[in-house]
Amino acid sequence: MCGIMGYIGSRDAAGIVIKGLECLEYRGYDSAGIALAEGHKIGISKCVGSVANLKAQLEKCSLNGKMGIGHTRWATHGGVTRENAHPHVDPDGRVVLIHNGIIENFHELGEEFAQKGVRFASETDTEVAAFLISSLYRDDPLLAIREACARLRGAFAFVILFADIADRYYCVRKGPSLVLGAAGGEAFCASDVTALLPYTNNVLFMEDEEIAELSAEGISLYGFDGARKEARLHLVDWDASMTSKGMYPHFMLKEIEEQGNVLRRTLAGRLEGGVINLSAEFPFSDEDARLFRRIHFVACGTSCHASAVAGRLADRYTGLDVRVEAASEYRYGNVVCDEGTLAVFVSQSGETADTLAAARLARIKGARCLAVTNVVSSSLGREVGAVLELRAGPEIGVAATKTFMGQLAALTLLTLWIGKQKGFLVPQKEKRLCAEMARLPLKVEDILAQGEDVRKIAERYQDLSAFLFIGRGISYPVAMEGALKLKEISYVHAEAHAAGEMKHGPIALLDKRMPVVAVAPRDGIYEKTLSSIQESRARKAPIITVASRGDKDIRRFSDDGFFVPETEEELTPFLTVIPLQLFAYHLASILGREIDRPRNLAKSVTVE
Ligand code: F6R
Repeated sequence: MCGIMGYIGSRDAAGIVIKGLECLEYRGYDSAGIALAEGHKIGISKCVGSVANLKAQLEKCSLNGKMGIGHTRWATHGGVTRENAHPHVDPDGRVVLIHNGIIENFHELGEEFAQKGVRFASETDTEVAAFLISSLYRDDPLLAIREACARLRGAFAFVILFADIADRYYCVRKGPSLVLGAAGGEAFCASDVTALLPYTNNVLFMEDEEIAELSAEGISLYGFDGARKEARLHLVDWDASMTSKGMYPHFMLKEIEEQGNVLRRTLAGRLEGGVINLSAEFPFSDEDARLFRRIHFVACGTSCHASAVAGRLADRYTGLDVRVEAASEYRYGNVVCDEGTLAVFVSQSGETADTLAAARLARIKGARCLAVTNVVSSSLGREVGAVLELRAGPEIGVAATKTFMGQLAALTLLTLWIGKQKGFLVPQKEKRLCAEMARLPLKVEDILAQGEDVRKIAERYQDLSAFLFIGRGISYPVAMEGALKLKEISYVHAEAHAAGEMKHGPIALLDKRMPVVAVAPRDGIYEKTLSSIQESRARKAPIITVASRGDKDIRRFSDDGFFVPETEEELTPFLTVIPLQLFAYHLASILGREIDRPRNLAKSVTVE
């Protein structure tokens, strides 16, 4: 949710922390703040709004230091005010702290302090942590942090400065991610590895219940029990150029346009000689795969839509009992999930709190678990152990696009692979699907080349305030994804329905101010979708279709259409989703929205 950056070394900390916050701003952008330590003097600057505001404010004052911590906030407890922005300080000014997460017992702890006459400066749950650590601090910072952690409930990543310690700062993780890096007398921390890439790609992903001490000498790592741990760094093969916008006006557009290459990377080495080969990555034996009785796909948001596509493929090709569910529901349902269940957890970030909790639950119940994620060393990757990597490269735009494409590819491969082990996917069909999958990157790029046409269509609809998306079968999750993209970045109301459900209620909404966006590629249920389109048209709704190129019939019933190349019907989502991503992007751009940082949203939802 919030973004954290910390630095110690020989350079000016302000520049490095601000640059890190700019890179992390997609995680939160309500307010921002920085603390800089110069010897034992700690200066703080905070403001409401973006990191650009903080940068401008900082230029007008004389704060300096070789050690600094910064924060970009996504408000949970307490409104968006300067007082609630981080860092927070205890009343004696001994502890300065930034936080990502939620402290659940902050009321209780706050009461204790209030009874002692202590006054809080903010409405946040974070301030209480600064007070608590300060009240426990004598001369051993590690001990004070450990004692405080023992009293705090909830999820937290902290970065802490102690006013009397000029050459070290501390990181704590229980829940939300924190990544550390050290190189050449400098030590960094950030909520996301992307902020560290300009300095190092040798990083350490902190585990839950760890405390790190960062200094010019490097990183020392401890457990919450005080035991010293080995600080082992890993090389990540992302580089800083992947996290810059280049010539694009927005990350979202850059990421949409990267989707052909994302497919090439995700498929590379996994489609060989016209067959699917996941044997090096699929963590279960052929015998295990044959014994699976159930497959669960569990995820949130866009990742859940990719899972729903996979669920429909699994229905067709695996012979398993298939369940696709939002992680926030799965974790509280009484789901039948045992050693005969393959539970697949899908998350681009690998940090989504609900998906992580659902994975823990499934593991406890004995399911065989697999993570499908873009970040192998993420919390989900480490929780589950077995990972199928997306290889989409870092995604910065808050609205997921290229990771959805990577998920479609990875999940299609996975589902067909299981179908093959179970004997439901016959070699001839496998060959056909593999040959077509290999052609998808070029087809994706063919659609992207017509991006400007999508803009012209979006212009015609800029005055309308609600859209209804429909699709059937494998196109229904695509409709859901199209509606989600539109609402999250343009703030225009959009909802998706299975086309066959229209008559059971949603059709009442239709009139000439309510366009219907129909995902209707030529597939086995095309005629049925066409009927739903005609019914909508009869109610005067403007019709926008996403259809197969050359489909003359559908043109007669559409006011506007996006046409995508023909493909195997199981693979149509790879193509039909692209015009919908572009439509959302262009409409949001015409409406002047903050595309890469839509209001109220954060890239990774690391709290429940
Ligand atoms: C929508 C979007 C979100 C995420 C969801 C899950 O564009 O990005 O709906 O898909 O928050 O995130 P991950 O995949 O990181 O678990």
